[in-house]
Amino acid sequence: MSVIDEGSGPVVVLLHAFPVNRHLWDGVVPGLVAAGFRVIAPDYAGLGDSPLPAEPPSVAAMAAQIRQVLTERGVDRFRLAGLSMGGYAAMQLVREIGPRIEGLALIDTKMAADTPPARDNRLAVATRAEVEGSAEFLVAAMLDNLLGPITRAERLDVVVQVERWIADAPPAAVAWAQRAMASRPDSTVDLAGFEGPALVLAGADDTISPPDEQRQIAATVPQAQLTLIPGVGHLSAVEDSAAVTDALLSWLR
Ligand code: MLT
Repeated sequence: MSVIDEGSGPVVVLLHAFPVNRHLWDGVVPGLVAAGFRVIAPDYAGLGDSPLPAEPPSVAAMAAQIRQVLTERGVDRFRLAGLSMGGYAAMQLVREIGPRIEGLALIDTKMAADTPPARDNRLAVATRAEVEGSAEFLVAAMLDNLLGPITRAERLDVVVQVERWIADAPPAAVAWAQRAMASRPDSTVDLAGFEGPALVLAGADDTISPPDEQRQIAATVPQAQLTLIPGVGHLSAVEDSAAVTDALLSWLR
């Protein structure tokens, strides 16, 4: 598996979104490492350079890949941050190994399961990726929702980078991850039972996981604090990596 593993100190695990890869965190890792953390950010779910899981699609199979990375690297207890799909995988890890998670940051994500129309849409996307043998169509389908309006207007470098990540996503992984997300359970009860320190962080212009949803998550997790980053959409870690780094650091400390 391809994994960013940098720094030394308490471990912070960063889980990327769909349909991107570990490099989503490239602007965040240096600040965390400089502040004395060991940062582990794996590719998973067949995205980036990770292998396609052999198991049928599920968030449990995502979590199994991530747990394997932690086992191989001798990590027992850790802080965990997941962005969007990374949040879904993080919620699965809370279900499975919650006591090992010393802090939980949920970034631009959702705790509810999909509605039936959202599930149907995912299954259609999965089939289309397989039929076309390419994730290229997702650039037009997703870009306007993944990036906030200010980023789209003013940050051509970010737009080009995200377009490239999406277009290069392996179609089999796109299909697998969509089916896994479609089958994920509601996580409200699991999050209500997470007693450790928690951060709910999102772009204020996120339309996939909007601020109202973030307020609900923050009201559910007992020790959660909420931070919304102005002028930023769904992929906050790449749209304003400095603000995400600052928010994570002030919470981690
Ligand atoms: C993501 O950013 O990981 C996706 O938008 C998540 C989703 O499709 O629910």
